[in-house]
Amino acid sequence: MNQSLLFTPLQVGNIILPNRFVMPAMQRGYCADGRPLEALADYYRRRAEGGVALIIGESCAIDHPSATRQPAAARMNPATRDGWARCVEEVHAAGGRMLIQLWHEGALRNADDGRTISPSGLVRPGQQNGRAASLAELAELREAYLMAALDAQAIGAEGVEIHSAHGYLLDQFLWSATNLRDDGYGGEQIADRARLHAEIVSSIRAACGPEFLISVRFSQWKEVDYAAKIARTPAELEVFVRTLERAGVDLFHASTRRFWEPEWIGDPRGLAGWVKSFSTVPVIAVGSVGLDIDIMTTFIEQADPKLQVPEAMDELEKRVAGGEFDLVAVGRALIGDPDFVHKVRENRMNEIRPFSRSDLGQLEWDSSIVEEAHDVQP
Ligand SMILES: Cc1cc2nc3c(=O)[nH]c(=O)nc-3n(C[C@H](O)[C@H](O)[C@H](O)COP(=O)(O)O)c2cc1C
Repeated sequence: MNQSLLFTPLQVGNIILPNRFVMPAMQRGYCADGRPLEALADYYRRRAEGGVALIIGESCAIDHPSATRQPAAARMNPATRDGWARCVEEVHAAGGRMLIQLWHEGALRNADDGRTISPSGLVRPGQQNGRAASLAELAELREAYLMAALDAQAIGAEGVEIHSAHGYLLDQFLWSATNLRDDGYGGEQIADRARLHAEIVSSIRAACGPEFLISVRFSQWKEVDYAAKIARTPAELEVFVRTLERAGVDLFHASTRRFWEPEWIGDPRGLAGWVKSFSTVPVIAVGSVGLDIDIMTTFIEQADPKLQVPEAMDELEKRVAGGEFDLVAVGRALIGDPDFVHKVRENRMNEIRPFSRSDLGQLEWDSSIVEEAHDVQP
């Protein structure tokens, strides 16, 4: 048996996770009209059976007409709730815990129907799509996040993850380049750009009570710009982390493409490590765990990664022991092998089945706005 610290328990909120492995949100195309099919419940159950302590469901659109037009997207509304309930039930039956990831595309929504809203109508500097949301619309969005969280609680999920990463709506608020508002929800100060997030988190906390977990997932990088930064300095990151912790966050999920990369020159800590130094709640690291190429190389260059699991586990062990972060999310490698965690635990890493792009099947996802962003960049 692997004696790694990665197989020691961790308390998150009032829940004890038996180990440090998380499955991050990943769209799989197993929904019909936004409602999870049995195949999605089976897929989550297999990962929980395989030893994953915490499963985060794929990005699930909040119930607002501006949220998404993606035909394959999961949604949370009265017609889809029972499909999500089955996912939670299957994960619980296998001994796992589950968060529902709440999502809104913002300016990445691809439809010319007047409903695409975002902080300032920008996908990235110089690329307009849709328009700036009014204050009344921000109030509607807050309400829609809250309703989705109440739905998640009603179906027995341990909590929600607020998707504020990778260039979608809430990330567009955090990035000064896409948030030019001057009404207290944008501008130069990161506390203002994070105001909507804090309001969403505190309203969920007030309505769902102290036991309901709230994770915030955020990233510096965006699908439309890998080098972007929402927090340009550690001091800005500190303001962001403290603002959200005050609002009631239980867990931060710092999304990077490679977990080992230093966030700022002159310090070995990655983004998760920096978050941890400012937060009192647990932090999840993610990015190419056990794989030699990152997610965007897989998607854009159509390349299959090679496994390098023992090296990754040594590096993770060192960083968790050093207090850099608490949990680790394993994405593509868990698509490749649902028993990834058990095989690591039993020192059978050489038996792990590698991930291949063919495992993704036919996910019908419209990425034309992201592709356009890459075309127009210098
Ligand atoms: C097929 C696929 C779908 C994804 N969908 C989501 C999503 O719904 N929400 C999200 O926050 N990240 C999503 N991601 C990103 C993953 O959560 C994760 O951050 C990324 O794959 C990096 O982890 P990895 O290098 O271990 O694969 C997706 C990734 C993949 C491969």
